[in-house]
Amino acid sequence: MKIAPSILSADFAALGEAIARVEAAGADQLHIDVMDGRFVPNITIGPVVVAAIRKRTRLPLDVHLMIVEPERYLADFVKAGADMLTVHAEACPHLQRTLGQIRELGAKAGVALNPGTPPGVLDYVLDDLDLVLVMSVNPGFGGQKFIPSAYAKIRQVRTMAGARPLEISVDGGVKLEHARPLAAHGASILVAGSAIFEAPDAAAMVKRMRNAAAPG
Ligand code: DX5
Ligand code: ZN
Repeated sequence: MKIAPSILSADFAALGEAIARVEAAGADQLHIDVMDGRFVPNITIGPVVVAAIRKRTRLPLDVHLMIVEPERYLADFVKAGADMLTVHAEACPHLQRTLGQIRELGAKAGVALNPGTPPGVLDYVLDDLDLVLVMSVNPGFGGQKFIPSAYAKIRQVRTMAGARPLEISVDGGVKLEHARPLAAHGASILVAGSAIFEAPDAAAMVKRMRNAAAPG
């Protein structure tokens, strides 16, 4: 199980130190939430901040684009240092083409599904993607409550993937107690924001989540 701290809940005025702490604790990648005030109500960060983070860490950058018309910004985010770009199925009328563009730019291609979006939208793009991000909250804010229908969706996506080496990531409201059942249902990456950055010791929480997912 990979652990991907979401910096949305970190102290943005001391972001470098927050990242260094989770990197030292063995985080596998860094989850960066990009919001545009249109696809979701909130506005967060853009390519300039991703480029600044790129200079501070060796961790792969997992960039979650909660924006309309993401195809307009793919090249900017890859240039800024994104290793993985995840677009929302709901924001992409030409999903197959958008995924191809991400791979052509040299990044891994991901699709995020809102809680209300059925996994069948992936049926004809399974060979075009590297990652499926199952949202377990409606995107827009950190600190929301985990929606348990994500479990069945993860299992369904894992079955659809068959022998493909697809990463399945779960994002939203993920706390320590969800790690084990999420692993059992087929998730391979846990994204966690408030659980890690609002814990008294963020580094310890990274380790506890990984141990909880794969005990022994
Ligand atoms: C929600 C974001 C998440 C968020 C998770 O819109 O996509 O990545 O940061 O934060 P928590 O873990 O606090 O729900
Ligand atoms: Zn996210």
